[in-house]
Amino acid sequence: MHDDIAEILFTEDEIAQRVGEIGRAITRDYADVADEGIVLVSVLRGAAIFMADLARVIDLPLEMDYMAVSSYGSGTKSSGVIRILKDLSTNIEGRHVIVAEDILDSGLTLEYLLKNLSERHPASLRVATFLRKQTQPQAEIDCTYLGFECPDSFIVGYGLDYAEHYRNLPYVGVLKPEVYR
Ligand code: XMP
Ligand code: MG
Repeated sequence: MHDDIAEILFTEDEIAQRVGEIGRAITRDYADVADEGIVLVSVLRGAAIFMADLARVIDLPLEMDYMAVSSYGSGTKSSGVIRILKDLSTNIEGRHVIVAEDILDSGLTLEYLLKNLSERHPASLRVATFLRKQTQPQAEIDCTYLGFECPDSFIVGYGLDYAEHYRNLPYVGVLKPEVYR
């Protein structure tokens, strides 16, 4: 285990198993629209690893696209005021879209994003979030696909960073507070 990690929450094996389950659920749920295919949208940069693994366990025709957003929040909390830094390259009108997120905290980022994407009239729009923090209060987001619930600590690994570090850890862990204090 990395020296800066206080505790491992989800191991590499547990993650692979859970992502496999989500992939099979998506494959089942979208079987009827398999002809049209689905569009997986990942929110850079944290969700890129989750989406890359998820895409490989979905047995359907699919496209992958990316968005980058920045939150005008202070420090580690988001404010809900979001700016799109990179938009989709795909026209999602009439498409079946699944947004892959790394972690849902206040929910403000996803709330904004879902509103923005729904205005483009996709055929359907769902959320697959790898983690959901037990944060109070949290915007009401319907997460059709959820990896794990996690504690309200600072979480890194499997795409999640602190100051761009730790994204490459194959597990998810709690960062030692002395690292960011
Ligand atoms: P909201 O509050 O809008 O925040 O749901 C979602 C975004 O905030 C980031 N975030 C984290 N990133 N460890 C991280 O590496 C965390 O514990 C954490 N909590 C929130 C993340 O970018 C997410 O997309
Ligand atoms: Mg993110």
